Order: sequence, then C-alpha cells, then structure tokens
Amino acid sequence: MLLELSSVSRRFGGLLAVADLSMTVEPGTIHGLIGPNGAGKSTVFNLITGVIPLTAGEILFKRARISGLRPSEICRRGVARTFQATALFREYTVLQNVLIGAHLLAAPGLAPALFRSRSYRERERQARGRGRALLESLGLGAVASQVAGQLPHRDQKALALAMALATGAELVILDEPLAGLTAQERAETTGVLRRLREQGTTVLLVEHDMKAVMGVCDTVTVLDHGVRIAGGTPREIQTNPAVIEAYLGVEEPGA
Ligand SMILES: Nc1ncnc2c1ncn2[C@@H]1O[C@H](COP(=O)(O)OP(=O)(O)OP(=O)(O)O)[C@@H](O)[C@H]1O
Ligand SMILES: [Mg+2]
Repeated sequence: MLLELSSVSRRFGGLLAVADLSMTVEPGTIHGLIGPNGAGKSTVFNLITGVIPLTAGEILFKRARISGLRPSEICRRGVARTFQATALFREYTVLQNVLIGAHLLAAPGLAPALFRSRSYRERERQARGRGRALLESLGLGAVASQVAGQLPHRDQKALALAMALATGAELVILDEPLAGLTAQERAETTGVLRRLREQGTTVLLVEHDMKAVMGVCDTVTVLDHGVRIAGGTPREIQTNPAVIEAYLGVEEPGA
C-alpha cells in the first residue's frame, strides 16, 4: 500500500475531530474520502500533509513513517495537496505558479537565488518545458502567461491541481476539486483524475459530489463525526445501510 493511517486521532479542545481512524490507500488508485460537513475530512488531509500534528496514531507513506515530519519534508517524499480554498500566487503568471509548485521558482517573500549556476538554468529550462506540458494537459496552455488572479474560477482550480502535480508527487490529495464548477467543468476535471491514475499517480479525493465520487473512485472511505463508518468499493458504499443513514440519505446544502 502507498499510504496507511493507523489508529489516527486528532482532538481540538473537547472535540475529537478524527477518532481512531485506520485506512489504507493502494497505489495507482483514486480513493474517495467522504462524509457530511464537519466529519473530519479536511482534518485528515491536514494530518497526512503535516499541517497539524496527530493527537494519537501514526501515518506511513511507502512504509515509512511521515507523521511528525514537517510539511515540506512530507511534500519532498511525494505527497502533494491542493487546498479547499484555492491558494495561488495571484500576481504571478500561471506558468510561474507551476514553477513555484515545482520548487524551481522562489515563492513571493523568499529571497531570490543570488547565484544562478549553469546547472540551475538547465534545470529551470527543463522545468519550464514540463510545466508547459502539464498546463497543456490540464487545458491551461493558452493562459500560461496570464496572471493567475485574473483567471476564471475553473482555471484557478485547474491551476491549483497543476501546482500539486508539478511537485512530481506520487500521491495527490485533493480537497473538493469540483466545488463551484459547472457540470461540464466537473466532467473535464474527473477526466483529468482518470488520466492521472493512468499515469500511475495515486489520488486521495475529498468531494461532496456523490455522482462524481462514485463514478471516478476505486475505493471509498466514509467518515461521520470523525469515525470511519464504512469502506469499500463505490457499489458497496452506496448500499451500506450505515452510510445511507449517516450521509447519503441527508441532502447536502447546495448539492
Ligand atoms: N483548527 C481547528 N480548530 C478547532 N476545530 C477545528 C479545526 N479544524 C477543524 N475543526 C473542527 O473539526 C471538525 C471537522 O472539521 P473538518 O474541517 O475536518 O470537516 P470536513 O469533513 O472537512 O467538513 P466540510 O465537508 O464542511 O469541509 C469540525 O467540527 C470543525 O469545526
Ligand atoms: Mg473540509
């Protein structure tokens, strides 16, 4: 398995946001993490990516423990994420954002490289080529030199995905990549997820769009109030009485 959560808990004061959660993600799959609002999904992502520490348990990536490591180290080992609220460098161009994702361009606020060696310039040239190819594959080729903050919502979401992919991650963690998109844009984005899987990238997906989750995921884990109440194939999940009661029977606001 690529990712393993073992008895993971996270407490916020009196609230147990994630309670004794164990789950595994197999390489080359799209794994859905679903549950009602406040179930703990984003918290699980924050735990995996090291943004917040665990209260208990451990997380392994490629059989090595990553819980307790800094986010930058977890990213370096091959785990990348996009955020629920799109976090882009709005004054930078689309291509520059991707190069920042690839750690080849300093993010705003960091000191620029003073000494640019020939090998650095060569790496940068290659990264630009890869960045452009990545943007093409996500339908962003035509806007590569536009300023990110001026892109329409759909393109900003695609760019957030491009930045995560530019890190060369083996595991990409996506928090609601379809939120706010039209039906057409949703279909395009799920197409991108399928292409990622074909290329061998593993995807861990939080998404409220049940039709998309059930259509694109190989396996699904269901959380409710921080507790894993079910796991299995989309078909198994859809017919699981506990899931129907906790989640699928409840209308999501705005769904
Ligand atoms: N930093 C924090 N401090 C205190 N409580 C938090 C914090 N982050 C999350 N929580 C609480 O933990 C619970 C789980 O929140 P989380 O954001 O993980 O849910 P979610 O499943 O992602 O929900 P949504 O579908 O609405 O995005 C909620 O009750 C939330 O209020
Ligand atoms: Mg969330």
